[in-house]
Amino acid sequence: MPDDSQPDGSNVIIRPARDVRGVVRIPGDKSISHRYAMLAAIAEGTSRFHNFSAARDCASTLDCVGKLGCEWKRQEDGSIEVLGAGARLKAPSQVLDCGNSGSTMRMLSGILSGQPFSSELCGDESLSRRPMARIMKPLTEMGAQISSSENGRPPLKIRGGALKAIHYKPEVASAQVKSCVLFAGLFAEGETIVEEPIRTRDHGEIALRAFGAEVGRIGNSSRIAGGQRLRAIEAHVAGDLSSAAFFLCAAALFPGSQITLPGILMNPTRARLLDILIQMGLKVSVAHLEEHHGELVGTIEAHGATWKGAVIAGGDTAALIDEIPVLAAVAPFSQGGLEVRDAKELRVKESDRIAAVATNLRKMGAEIEERPDGMRVPGGQHLHGAELDSFGDHRIAMAFAVAALRAEGETMIQGADAAGVSYPAFFEELKTVAGR
Ligand code: S3P
Repeated sequence: MPDDSQPDGSNVIIRPARDVRGVVRIPGDKSISHRYAMLAAIAEGTSRFHNFSAARDCASTLDCVGKLGCEWKRQEDGSIEVLGAGARLKAPSQVLDCGNSGSTMRMLSGILSGQPFSSELCGDESLSRRPMARIMKPLTEMGAQISSSENGRPPLKIRGGALKAIHYKPEVASAQVKSCVLFAGLFAEGETIVEEPIRTRDHGEIALRAFGAEVGRIGNSSRIAGGQRLRAIEAHVAGDLSSAAFFLCAAALFPGSQITLPGILMNPTRARLLDILIQMGLKVSVAHLEEHHGELVGTIEAHGATWKGAVIAGGDTAALIDEIPVLAAVAPFSQGGLEVRDAKELRVKESDRIAAVATNLRKMGAEIEERPDGMRVPGGQHLHGAELDSFGDHRIAMAFAVAALRAEGETMIQGADAAGVSYPAFFEELKTVAGR
């Protein structure tokens, strides 16, 4: 069977590599693309986005805003044009299907709460298991009527209308919750404040400012006054650092590897990944730093060297939440291993990512200690190829494709098409850089 193939469209075979070399152009950041599409929908004028994320998740957001009366189209040059409907959207005649995307459901709920109509949001099997009480609580306090199925899981029914501002202190560190409440705050009377327990990614605040809103930040609090109007923008979306993480970890596996990733998002609330990779031994340099609509962008060049160990805990865990699966999958090949703490949130992502990582690593012959809120993966281990499951989770599929490059023998990843949720071309790109 050919290497890195997709024989039936959903299973991929990965053969070991000798090293990793080349240039990869990473698609636009998923977090920013969601926010741009949603804010463009409620802005005045026509927005245009270059390098908009190719993720299936962002297609779910575009589909939902389309059902809310906001027209959008893909231009010949690949850019996405969104015709803003202004602050008032149209009542949807169908259920809004968010697919696999927690970001779509949580952040769009903030906007829908400020609209004078009823709407219903549903998702796939994975999304239907994910907690929504974290957004239902603040939105209800603001005056929206929201109901869910049992235990605060989707589908959600929202009756929006007049909202009042709140000062909200979320229990979980979540940028989706923060953006949801700030987006609702645009429609509320007064000033809405979100005081975070731990600083999370700030793309919501930056995007709101790019569309012309005033958003304040003092200490750990972001604040927005209601009634502000948004203006359309034309923007280039930086390459997704969380997708870049797979290639950086692949390079880290082989001393002497060399990978170049142009135009990658360097937002400080996301770039903690580079500090950890450097601490673990990857040689990283960043060139051509620029700012696009408040977001920092740069070209990453990375060289594999000795791969050491690390501990990820507290604020670092929140900052690296999407990259922990791949860092853990490659940790057995490091000298000191990886310990992850304070990561209970990983259990309620697209899959239970602690269980998924532990199951797949054990199938490859690795030792791993699974904990309720984290894991410890010893270093200095030898792994063999195995039949693995993506658990329907894009980041698990890609994380183990990377680990498989250093295993002995072939690895099959079942359900590898899940990668399309954030990175449809991932396996083709991996094939081009894996030296054999
Ligand atoms: C995201 C925030 C994080 C992250 C997700 C994208 C965002 O989720 O895991 O992939 O765009 O705000 P939480 O807000 O649930 O931590």
